[in-house]
Amino acid sequence: MKNTISYTSNSFLIEGGRPLRGKVRVSGSKNASLPILIASLLSSEVCIVENVPNLLDTATTFELLEELGAHVERREGEVVVDAGSVDNHVAPDSVVRRMRASVLVMGPLLSRFGRATVSMPGGCSIGVRSIDQHLKVFEKAGAHIEVKHGYINLELRKIKPVEYTFEVITVTGTENALMLLSGCEKRSVLRNIALEPEVMDLVEVMRKMGVEIHIEDRTAIIRGSKDLRGFKHRVIPDRIEAGTLMVAGFITGGDVIIEDIRVDHLGSIIEKLKEAGAHVDLLDLRSLRVRGLEKAKPLSISTAEYPGFPTDMQAQFMVLCCVADGISEIRENIFENRFQHVAELQRMGADIHVRDRTAIVRGVDKLYGAEVYSTDLRASASLVLAGLVAEGTTIVRDIYHLDRGYERLEEKLKSLGAAIERLPHN
Ligand code: EPZ
Repeated sequence: MKNTISYTSNSFLIEGGRPLRGKVRVSGSKNASLPILIASLLSSEVCIVENVPNLLDTATTFELLEELGAHVERREGEVVVDAGSVDNHVAPDSVVRRMRASVLVMGPLLSRFGRATVSMPGGCSIGVRSIDQHLKVFEKAGAHIEVKHGYINLELRKIKPVEYTFEVITVTGTENALMLLSGCEKRSVLRNIALEPEVMDLVEVMRKMGVEIHIEDRTAIIRGSKDLRGFKHRVIPDRIEAGTLMVAGFITGGDVIIEDIRVDHLGSIIEKLKEAGAHVDLLDLRSLRVRGLEKAKPLSISTAEYPGFPTDMQAQFMVLCCVADGISEIRENIFENRFQHVAELQRMGADIHVRDRTAIVRGVDKLYGAEVYSTDLRASASLVLAGLVAEGTTIVRDIYHLDRGYERLEEKLKSLGAAIERLPHN
């Protein structure tokens, strides 16, 4: 499977000041696609995944699956994975470096083959991102773990049922544990699990594969089986892309209809936007309309695990606060260093003060176009949003960060009337 997008440090050139108007469709969820594609490793039967977005991270996942010996084919609207001939259990540094979610192969490889070797994921720009919780579940299930020369080597001769309470709520930690325990025929219990829609989408897939999973509050009871079936599944819409487009429609003073969404996944985002003064009309369960009829009101935001306000929307809402009519407070509770976008927004005239995990944002009359640099996926999205409302021209560099998680964002924005061009690398 050829990598359909290459890592190029393209830039976006944006002329600000245009209200967005029209209809736009949201792509499938990146953070549901990755674990669901990787779950195909659990079965020797063919798996079909629909609505997988065309992103750097999904292309990297195809590459990783093929590295392990699976056959991956992207057809019109679907990805077909055949993991019947998987014969390699090593996720190399060259891949894990690019995408830390590669650690998700540990659960399935251990479950089906009893072996996995994964390059130790380094930290990234938003935080240490430890995986101690993942490893604790593996140990509880009887895995022998050795970290040597930067690689985590895991061996599991006979899987044991697990009773474990996560010490922190972790999305991929929950996903790795569920996939590991899908191979255990005895009853396991996981407590304090993550409930993000992307985790629940993976649960749906595992049920289709033949795993019994019962979830109540934050407790999951799992009873797996030795030979799991293949599956066909349509990935849920990307709630973070939807939220990003909603913020864009509001702060540009536009009128945008967003389609192919799951309104029930957007509760906290809709609430916060309404609090800021956005007019949000639910058209049906899969579409809504956002209008920006007045200046944004200031907000108090505190990120939390789902169903709380998503950390992946923090940078985007910070732009809204930068042009709000008053002082906002944003507290980032999930990651210890997720304010990389602040310095770049300050270059555009934003008035932001950060102390520890709290940013105080004083709304300004306007932002001014500037040359700014992406540092991570959601930070780059916030710089694009800032460019859309800034006076004058903004150049956002290192757009490959954005291409990891947004499918053709510039085309979607352009279709809504934005003046945005992708510049070749120079
Ligand atoms: C997932 O990352 C998402 N990525 C992230 O989205 C998202 O920001 C994050 O969940 C939180 O919602 C994918 O799903 C591929 P965590 P993940 O484990 O699973 C600590 C994006 O923009 N922790 O829920 O890596 C950790 O350090 C990306 O699309 C431990 O201490 O996040 C963090 O502070 C960015 N030990 C907190 O928990 C562990 O073993 C939440 O991390 C695991 C996590």
